[in-house]
Amino acid sequence: MPTSDIGLDKTLADLGVTQPEQVALRFAKIRVHFQEHFQTVHDESEWKSFRDRWLGRKSGVLTQITDNWLKPATPQLKRAVGASLNELRAHVESQIEARRAAIESGAEESALARERVDLSLPGFIRPTGSHHLIRQVFQEIEDIFFSIGFSVVEGPEIETPYYNFEALNIPEFHPVRDDMDTFYLELPTGAKTPLLLRTHTSPMQIRTMEKQKPPVRVIVPGKVYRRDNPDATHSFAFHQIEGLAVDSDITFCDFTGTIEYFVKEFFGPSVKTRFRPSYFPFTEPSVEFDVSCPFCGGTGTAAGGGTCSKCKGAAWIELFGAGMVDPAVYGFVNYDAKRVSGFAFGIGIDRLAMLKYGIDDIQVFFQNDVRFLRQFP
Ligand code: DAH
Repeated sequence: MPTSDIGLDKTLADLGVTQPEQVALRFAKIRVHFQEHFQTVHDESEWKSFRDRWLGRKSGVLTQITDNWLKPATPQLKRAVGASLNELRAHVESQIEARRAAIESGAEESALARERVDLSLPGFIRPTGSHHLIRQVFQEIEDIFFSIGFSVVEGPEIETPYYNFEALNIPEFHPVRDDMDTFYLELPTGAKTPLLLRTHTSPMQIRTMEKQKPPVRVIVPGKVYRRDNPDATHSFAFHQIEGLAVDSDITFCDFTGTIEYFVKEFFGPSVKTRFRPSYFPFTEPSVEFDVSCPFCGGTGTAAGGGTCSKCKGAAWIELFGAGMVDPAVYGFVNYDAKRVSGFAFGIGIDRLAMLKYGIDDIQVFFQNDVRFLRQFP
C-alpha cells in the first residue's frame, strides 16, 4: 500500500481528523498495513528495506507520522497522536527485531543444512589389493621351511658368471649352460667381468656359504631369468626357492625326510613322493622329485573317467630338482668336504602354484589382469 493511501503525506487536518477516536482509527489502519508488509519479509535484504521503510530517519513511516501528523496536530489531538505513535513505534521496533533474529537463525540453520555431512552416504571404496598369487605361494613355502628351522636370505638378480655357473661346478662350455639360455648385460668395453641375469637362485648357495660357516639352513626366494620363448609353461622371468642345508652330519635320510615333509605340508598328507635319478653339476647324487598327482589321487584317471589332464595319465608329476651337495662345490667356499655334508633343492614357484591352484598358463602371472588376481584374495 503506498504511503499516500494511508494519508501519511497529509496532515490530520487535511484528512479531516479532528477527534481522538479518528486518530485511533488512522493508527489501526497503519497497523494493518504494517502487518501485511511484515508477512512478506523473509530474507535479509527484504528485512533491510522493510526496516528502512518503517524506521528510516528521513522518510520512514514513523518519521512521516511525526512530521506530518504529530508536529502540526492541534493541541487537543497532540496527546492522542503522541500516545498512539509511541505504541506503534514500540510494536514496529519489537516486530522488526524479532524478524531479524528469526531470519538470522534461519539463515544459520540453512547454512548448517548445506554443510551437514550425510553419514549415511557410502564412502569412496578404495581397493586395497592383495598379494599376488606368486607372493602367496612364496609365503606358504617360507612358512613351512621356517617351521623346521630354515631362515630366508635373498640375493642379487644380476650375477657374475662365477656365482651363477663356475662356483656351482658348471665350467665354461659345460653343456648344462645350454639349458639355461642366459641374458647377459651390455657393459662398457673393458668391464672387468661379464654380468648376467641369474638363471637360477643357486648362486645364493655359494654366497651364503662364503659368508657363513656350517651349520647352514637357508631358503632363497627370488626371480630368475632365462631367454625362453614364452608359452603356457615358459616365461623369460619366473620364480624359484632355493634351499640349502649343510652341517657335519646331514645324511640322505635327512634330505628325503625334509623334502617329503615339505611336499606333504604343501599338497596335503595324502600325496606320495618319489625320487628319480637325475643330474645337476652341483649335486651328487642328484634327483628329480615327483609327487603323486594331487588331481587324480595318483591314479592317472580323471574323476569322471578318462585320462587325468594334469598328469596326462602318468599318475606322477615332476616337482623339482634336488640332491646332496657335490663335494666339488665345498671347494669353492672353503668348506672341508670331508667334514661337512648337505643337501640342496631348487623349487620352481610358478610351476607349484600352477599345480596347486589348477592354473594352466604361466603367462597369467605376469599379465596383471585383475580378473585373475581377484580370484586369489
Ligand atoms: N638350479 C636348478 C635349476 O634352476 C635347480 C636345482 C636343482 C637347484 C638341484 C638345486 C638342486 O639346489 O640341488 O634348474
